[in-house]
Amino acid sequence: MSLNEIRGDGKIMVITGASKGIGKQISIDFIERGFKVFGIARSEEKLNETAQRLNPISRGEFIPMPYDIGNETQIETLIEKLYSKIPKIDVLILCAGIAHSRIFEDLSLKDIQIELKVNYTSHIFLIQKLEELLKKSSSPRIIAIGSLTSELPFPTNASYSASKAALFQFLRSWRMENPFFEDKVKIILPGFVKTHIASEYDMHKYMPQESTKEVSHACLKALQSHKSVLFPSWTTACAYRLGRFSLSLSEWLIKLGSKYFVINKKYPPKS
Ligand SMILES: NC(=O)c1ccc[n+]([C@@H]2O[C@H](COP(=O)([O-])OP(=O)(O)OC[C@H]3O[C@@H](n4cnc5c(N)ncnc54)[C@H](OP(=O)(O)O)[C@@H]3O)[C@@H](O)[C@H]2O)c1
Repeated sequence: MSLNEIRGDGKIMVITGASKGIGKQISIDFIERGFKVFGIARSEEKLNETAQRLNPISRGEFIPMPYDIGNETQIETLIEKLYSKIPKIDVLILCAGIAHSRIFEDLSLKDIQIELKVNYTSHIFLIQKLEELLKKSSSPRIIAIGSLTSELPFPTNASYSASKAALFQFLRSWRMENPFFEDKVKIILPGFVKTHIASEYDMHKYMPQESTKEVSHACLKALQSHKSVLFPSWTTACAYRLGRFSLSLSEWLIKLGSKYFVINKKYPPKS
């Protein structure tokens, strides 16, 4: 089935990080195909804008869920709200993320904790609490927006990379201990996408870029694919395979690139 032929027919999708960037694009593509999308993010205004613009002209529907997944009380309320509103979840997309693109010594404990909480802890907590709703669907999917940085080193984003690696490794292990979900968990590994999260990262000018649409299409493909890890573009797939094939070569290339474009700005070489 081509991506244009996919039909939601009222299927229920819950997505974190729906207000902008990749999550917004995924929401748009799924609503257009007839999914009923519950979009979570902090910015109520942005979520409402999407609902007002798209609901009158789309096959599906967008329902704003303005909650902060970095806040324990709000996440509990969000879960209660979902149980009161919907009988099942067909697709759960874990997309919310934050990144502090700075050298590690410039990060505070609070910066590190919130990165880990939003990118990892809150998402696995959501899986645990929403498992019951997912099991009520005839063919549920959990799709996580991971990152190539969970496989390759990423100087100036060390703590972010570790949080994405935590999510990646959690999902790989968890689906094995839970036979019901084994073939239903899909991980998308984007490389570099020009969005708000990546705006602080200087090296982007020199890197191949993916569009939010390519990441969204990888999510649509994940609905039908038997693969557990999917890449939005061939460049990211090649970078991932290079990392697996030769750790030392991939590290040497990354070190070279980041030294010139990122690290030297912070620690200029002595003349
Ligand atoms: N851009 C890239 O190069 C790239 C590469 C690989 C992977 N990714 C991953 O792709 C995902 C989406 O990132 P993006 O590029 O689209 O960045 P983005 O434009 O900054 O979007 C991040 C989304 O996460 C939401 N979010 C952040 N903190 C939240 C919180 N505490 N509670 C609820 N929602 C929260 C934001 O909404 P509010 O601010 O309204 O809360 C926003 O909707 C992330 O998981 C990121 O790690 C991105």
